[in-house]
Amino acid sequence: MSIETAEELEALKKVGHVVAACLKFMGESIRPGMKTSELDAIGAAFLEKHGARSAPQFFYGFPGHTCISLNEAVAHGIPGEGVIANGDLVNIDVSAEMNGFVADTGGSFAVGPVSALKTRLLAAAKEAMLAGVAEARDGAPLSNIGRAMENVARKRGFTVIENLGSHGVGRKLHEEPGFIPGFYDPRDKRVLKKGMVITVEPFVSNGARIAEDAKDGWTLLTPKRFSAQYEHTIVVTDGAPLILTRA
Ligand code: CO
Ligand code: CO
Repeated sequence: MSIETAEELEALKKVGHVVAACLKFMGESIRPGMKTSELDAIGAAFLEKHGARSAPQFFYGFPGHTCISLNEAVAHGIPGEGVIANGDLVNIDVSAEMNGFVADTGGSFAVGPVSALKTRLLAAAKEAMLAGVAEARDGAPLSNIGRAMENVARKRGFTVIENLGSHGVGRKLHEEPGFIPGFYDPRDKRVLKKGMVITVEPFVSNGARIAEDAKDGWTLLTPKRFSAQYEHTIVVTDGAPLILTRA
């Protein structure tokens, strides 16, 4: 969506705050030995308490309240019997609808001590996300975001997943201006406009470029690899963007 009124901005800030606080709380609640369904239940209770509805469930019938993706899973992991262990990477993606407005956030977490490679991957993914956010401003080419994120990933020795990316958000979970690649696409001539509400979310991997569909119909996998993602919902302005999903 594109924000036109102060009321719209207020409503988006509210739902942005709820998903950000939910993600933070879930991240702090991760314990080795916990099932991903237990972690999801914590998120579900948090959203309900704050009057928000799970966006993937509401818009797509996703069989969970939040997406929880372990290790080889990149995104859209279904909370269930999977047990979280020390050394794992856990990605939690929280998006919710409140009073007709939607915000989307996500982050990857290390469980206990993880390998040096995983630690570097998390740092690179966060750096890529911040580099993408820094490119978002009125009048700039949309493709600057993917270019900045891909450059960081490459510089750190990693790849970006090409078939997962950022997107418009605000009234629906996925909306105009559509898919925003995490890499530089010179054919993409779209331009960022003041008021646009988008996510910025690189998916950074130790070698994978394409996420594959799992048999469950939801989870996206990078077999024998792992990946990390950080996501903010932002509003484009003529200066630094407004980050709506900071906890
Ligand atoms: Co998300
Ligand atoms: Co998203």
